[in-house]
Amino acid sequence: MSHHLLDGKRGLIFGALNDKSIAWKVAERAHEEGAKFVLTNAPFALRLGEMDQLAAKTGSEIIAADATSVEDLTVALERSQEILGGKLDFILHSIGMSPNVRKKHSYDNLDYRYFQQTLDISALSLHKLLQVAKKMDAINEYGSVVALSYIAAQRTFYGYNDMAEAKSLLESIVRSFGYIYGRSKKVRVNSVSQSPTFTTAGGGVRGFDGLFDYSNRMSPLGNASAEECADYCLTLFSDLTRKVTMQNLFHDGGFSSMGMSERVMGFYNKCLDNILPEEW
Ligand SMILES: NC(=O)c1ccc[n+]([C@@H]2O[C@H](COP(=O)([O-])OP(=O)(O)OC[C@H]3O[C@@H](n4cnc5c(N)ncnc54)[C@H](O)[C@@H]3O)[C@@H](O)[C@H]2O)c1
Repeated sequence: MSHHLLDGKRGLIFGALNDKSIAWKVAERAHEEGAKFVLTNAPFALRLGEMDQLAAKTGSEIIAADATSVEDLTVALERSQEILGGKLDFILHSIGMSPNVRKKHSYDNLDYRYFQQTLDISALSLHKLLQVAKKMDAINEYGSVVALSYIAAQRTFYGYNDMAEAKSLLESIVRSFGYIYGRSKKVRVNSVSQSPTFTTAGGGVRGFDGLFDYSNRMSPLGNASAEECADYCLTLFSDLTRKVTMQNLFHDGGFSSMGMSERVMGFYNKCLDNILPEEW
């Protein structure tokens, strides 16, 4: 159902790889809510061809941009304003990739060249995007930039590897640039810290099934889905959240405030009953 939350708004959406992607769901919902936007992704992602379906469904154009390249970001911001006929009102940064995770390098055996790529793709790309947008004055007053994060920025989650550092850096950029951009142009910058979600990036994390189940049992509302994440992002793009900026906002069914839930305790005790001898 449409609430016309984004009627007349123009946006740029990074990171819709396939129909599991969080950015894909955001694009579908933003379209329903009346927004016009341009889709962008790295050239390798465009070659997979799936984005064409999303573009057709939402009446959007696609621009190739490697988010680590200032030149590509400059072109993406210039072209999207030309295509949409004016400055942008929202940008979604839904980008993450760790070559160390992909190549299964453990945290105590990191390849440092890969580590730098992880940081560049997953975190510095947000800084580059904001810096180019600000210099170009590409975003309207009270426009909203949202990046996707994960609670491994604050706490250690086995298997998340060097993406934890990337998310910490990302959230810090949200605060630091949020101040600069808010002060000078009234542009808002926030991150949404989302539950584990079955996507291409999510599924690459070691032991993801267990992580998903644990987080689901621990959260009073259960894990948040990609569709629910999209709904939350839309509220942040809308005029209903005009004074929200520099925040890392947990969208996780309550997980981030939990220590132990009845469901996890029950599950754990059952395991102990089976494993441990009676005298324990
Ligand atoms: N899936 C989860 O469990 C989960 C949880 C919390 C946060 N997040 C975050 O959500 C965001 C979106 O991930 P997703 O889960 O939808 O997975 P996804 O794999 O569908 O999306 C990741 C996107 O990053 C893009 N990308 C990678 N390198 C790029 C580059 N150099 N330039 C431009 N784009 C590039 C990919 O093409 C892809 O579209 C990421 O920041 C991810 O860390 C995911």
